[in-house]
Amino acid sequence: MSGWSSSCRSPLLLVLLLLLFPLAADATSQTTAAAAAGGDRDTLLAIKKSWGYPPQLAASWDPSATANHCAWKGVTCSGGGGGGIGVVTELSLPGLNLTLPIPASVCALENLARLDLSYNNLAGAFPAAALYPCAARLRSLDLSHNLLSGPLPSGIGSLSPATMEHLDLSANLFTGEIPEAFAGLTELTQLNMSSNKLTGAVPAWALRHGKLEYLYLFDNALSGELPRDVTAVNLIELDFSMNRLTGEIPDAFRGLKKLTLLFLYKNQLTGSVPWLFRHDRLESLCLDENGFTGNLPSEITAANLILLNLSRNQLTGGIPQAFGNLRNLKRLFLQNNRFTGTLC
Ligand SMILES: *[C@@H]1O[C@H](CO)[C@@H](O)[C@H](O)[C@H]1NC(C)=O
Ligand SMILES: *[C@@H]1O[C@H](CO)[C@@H](O)[C@H](O)[C@H]1NC(C)=O
Ligand SMILES: *[C@@H]1O[C@H](CO)[C@@H](O)[C@H](O)[C@H]1NC(C)=O
Repeated sequence: MSGWSSSCRSPLLLVLLLLLFPLAADATSQTTAAAAAGGDRDTLLAIKKSWGYPPQLAASWDPSATANHCAWKGVTCSGGGGGGIGVVTELSLPGLNLTLPIPASVCALENLARLDLSYNNLAGAFPAAALYPCAARLRSLDLSHNLLSGPLPSGIGSLSPATMEHLDLSANLFTGEIPEAFAGLTELTQLNMSSNKLTGAVPAWALRHGKLEYLYLFDNALSGELPRDVTAVNLIELDFSMNRLTGEIPDAFRGLKKLTLLFLYKNQLTGSVPWLFRHDRLESLCLDENGFTGNLPSEITAANLILLNLSRNQLTGGIPQAFGNLRNLKRLFLQNNRFTGTLC
């Protein structure tokens, strides 16, 4: 320890400096990145203040305890190689009891792509003013399990239209119709608006969307018939259960060849749906508690079915032997119909 001579201290410093600032040519971009990172730290501190210093952040979001804000609770950064500090790309702050409105400073995080504020007590209208300025940057927004209420804004298409992929507004108190403007979120692959108080019809745009894969609108007060113009061929899961939907399942739903899950239980749907039993990707089909009628088809080739629930309908006739061919079927519910005969 005491053996360090002044003659060897200088080269050591030089090596350290070289490690910290590897390429002189990068100096400008590093300075910019450092400034952005410093800006992000100040922004996070402003956010903490706006949210009334949430106790769960107190110990972590503290520059005197942890200088690098990328290590703070719920903060994810990218970059930060070469000894620099990265820019904030994700804020994940679920279950912090947040009650005050989302601060406008959130969108001052210039690289923020993911924001999870689920399981808080955020109330009032959809936070359009705070979130629209994030412009074409947010990829994922989770505001589920809060107390947000009122109609969804007709300007919702401004919510990072070029980038938004995952949007979860479920388990809030939103009312009114689902605006057509959602169609403007062209990159959307997953939309969850279940467990709200939404009314009106299942929106036509949703079944024409070119990228949508997962669509959950269950547990609302949607009414009317299902859209007939169905071209959203990338849909994988569709859940419209627990609404007030009426009429038949339109024939055009046959075109949803990638569908693995179709839940329409607890509605007032009618008619018969023989083609569903020939859909070769379907794994989970729950049509229970509706008014479906008719006989089950003798030809059942939906070999991937794992769960089939047809309980509490008005289905008639025998129970086809072909059910025996469904090798993957683990759970079959047929009770409370008007079937004759028994399943062997
Ligand atoms: C949330 O806030 C309520 C009321 O202010 C308080 O009773 C409760 O303990 C808080 N929960 C947490 C996890 O901080
Ligand atoms: C959709 O939202 C409901 C209610 O918050 C939740 O239970 C469900 O897991 C969500 N589904 C997906 C796939 O995110
Ligand atoms: C099947 O349907 C019945 C009647 O709606 C319901 O009670 C039951 O929970 C359902 N089971 C599954 C696994 O969907």
